[in-house]
Amino acid sequence: MGKDVIVACDFSGAEAVYDFLDKFTGTEKPFVKIGMELFYAEGPEIVRQIKRRGHRIFLDLKLHDIPNTVKKAMAVLSALDVDICNLHAAGTTAMMEAALEGLTRPDGTRPLLIAVTQLTSTDQRSMERDLLIREPMDQVVLHYASNAKKAGLDGVVCSPLEVQVVHECLGRSFLTVTPGIRFADGDKGDQKRVMTPAEAKKAGSDYIVVGRPITAVADPVAAYERCAAEFVDA
Ligand code: C5P
Repeated sequence: MGKDVIVACDFSGAEAVYDFLDKFTGTEKPFVKIGMELFYAEGPEIVRQIKRRGHRIFLDLKLHDIPNTVKKAMAVLSALDVDICNLHAAGTTAMMEAALEGLTRPDGTRPLLIAVTQLTSTDQRSMERDLLIREPMDQVVLHYASNAKKAGLDGVVCSPLEVQVVHECLGRSFLTVTPGIRFADGDKGDQKRVMTPAEAKKAGSDYIVVGRPITAVADPVAAYERCAAEFVDA
């Protein structure tokens, strides 16, 4: 499994995302993350179009529903030929197993499936107060990740700060996909617990997800190349 930079294309519509992707005229076509905003605005056609342009796609829709519904929805996403899909581990092991079944194509191939554990917007206090979960956050994250592994998933989305413990407890081949990446001299924005691409590489992240440090700067191609140089080639 090669290390890769995934660019979070958090744009509100097709035109903005094509303007952005058109800047990448070299041979390297970035791995792209499509989230809810773009998918709900443009529908599945945006996935087909970006795929046709030669990009690999992480479709970040974070499914969470009863097992049968998630299974059927995953079969639809699988037919879109995306490379990575995700769901909420909170949906239970049964939901994750059903998702995997739905995702698997008749020929046995399927996109990678990874789980969101606890969103980074949830902290200990809100977990206790709103969800009545009283265990420490790191144990909750590890428990959800371990459920994901038991269900047969390929990995988790997590903070780069959690990569080491996930790999230690669940094995080196269990994938860690990590947002919260910032350049050492960059603006942190609303991300609180951040690492640089080089630090994420050192921590053992398999994929980093980078949005604004690439999408919201004057020279996105240079920023992407800087990221890849730190994370992939260094
Ligand atoms: O712009 P920025 O680099 O902060 O973008 C990070 C991307 O990763 C966004 O699309 C955000 O929704 C996503 N993400 C995150 N933290 C999580 C899960 C997803 O930042 N825990």
